[in-house]
Amino acid sequence: NTLKVLKYKDRLWPAFAPESIRGVETFKSRDDDVIVVAYPKSGTHWVWEMARLLLAGTTDVPTIEKDDGMIEDVFPDVLEAQPSPRSLNTHAHFELLPKEILEKKNCKLIYLTRDPRDVAVSYFNHHRKLVEYYEYKGQWKDYFPLYVNGKVDYESWFAYTQGWEQGIKDNPDLKVHVTSYEALHENTNEEVKKLAQFLGAPTDEVFVADVVNKTSFDSMKASKGKNETYREKDKTETPIMYRKGKVGDWKNWFTVAQAEQFDAIFEQEMKGIRPYKLYTNQRGFL
Ligand code: A3P
Repeated sequence: NTLKVLKYKDRLWPAFAPESIRGVETFKSRDDDVIVVAYPKSGTHWVWEMARLLLAGTTDVPTIEKDDGMIEDVFPDVLEAQPSPRSLNTHAHFELLPKEILEKKNCKLIYLTRDPRDVAVSYFNHHRKLVEYYEYKGQWKDYFPLYVNGKVDYESWFAYTQGWEQGIKDNPDLKVHVTSYEALHENTNEEVKKLAQFLGAPTDEVFVADVVNKTSFDSMKASKGKNETYREKDKTETPIMYRKGKVGDWKNWFTVAQAEQFDAIFEQEMKGIRPYKLYTNQRGFL
C-alpha cells in the first residue's frame, strides 16, 4: 500500500526529474508572474486556465497545458525562456516556495483551496489512474489512511494548508488572492471577475462570461483533451485531469466511520486557523 514518489531533501514530490524539482529553489521570479498555488486536486487546471485567459485579455489563444507552467515539473531554462507575463503554478508547500518570491514579493499569487474530502477522492483517482507514475494498486479503504497521514506526493493536506494560511498571515505584503473550488462553483462569474480585478485584466461582462464559458468543465475536457498527455488506459481515453468536476463527491466514497474520523482530525489540525469557510458556512459542514 505505497505510492511511488520522489524523496528530495526529505520531502515527497511526484517522480519528476530531480533537475526540475531543484529548480524550485533557484526559480527567478518576474514582477508580472502570476502563480496559482494549491494542494493537488484543488482545481489547479481550472484556475490556471482562468488566469491564463484573463492575463491574455482574450480567449482566442492557443491551447497549452497547465503542466507547461508547473514550476517543479519544467526545467529551469525552459521556464526562463517563456515570455512574460507567465502564468505558472506549483503545489509546493509555503516553506518550499522559491526564495525570490518571498524576498521580492513581486509576483501575484492565487491561493486556491478545496474541501479536503473532495481532494482525497480526486487524489485517489489520480493516483490510481496514473499507473506509470505511481504504480498504485490500493483500494479506497487503503488509500484513506495514506492521504490522512500525508504519505503521498506533496504530503499532508493539513500541513500544506496550515503552512499557507500562516504564511499569508505572516506576510501581509504578499500579493495574494484567495479563492476556493466551492466558491468558484457557487458563483463562477463573480469569482472570475474578482480574479480579473486582482490581475488587472478586463472586467467587462462579455469578456468575463467568455472566460467562464471557455473554462467550464465540459469545454476544458473537450479542448484540453486533444493535447492532454494523461488519458485513461481504457477505450474511453478520457483525459484524467477532468474526472467529475463536482462539489461533494466525497459523500459517494467516505464511509460514515471515515467521515467521522476525518472530522475529528480536521478539527484538531485546523484549530486556530482562520474560520474555515469550506467547513463552517458555504457547504454547511460542522
Ligand atoms: P474531480 O477529480 O473531483 O473531478 P487539479 O487541477 O488541481 O489537478 O484538480 C483536478 C480536479 O478539478 C478534478 O476534480 C477535476 O475534475 C476538476 N476540474 C478540472 N477542470 C475543471 C473545470 N474546468 N471545472 C470544474 N472542475 C474542474
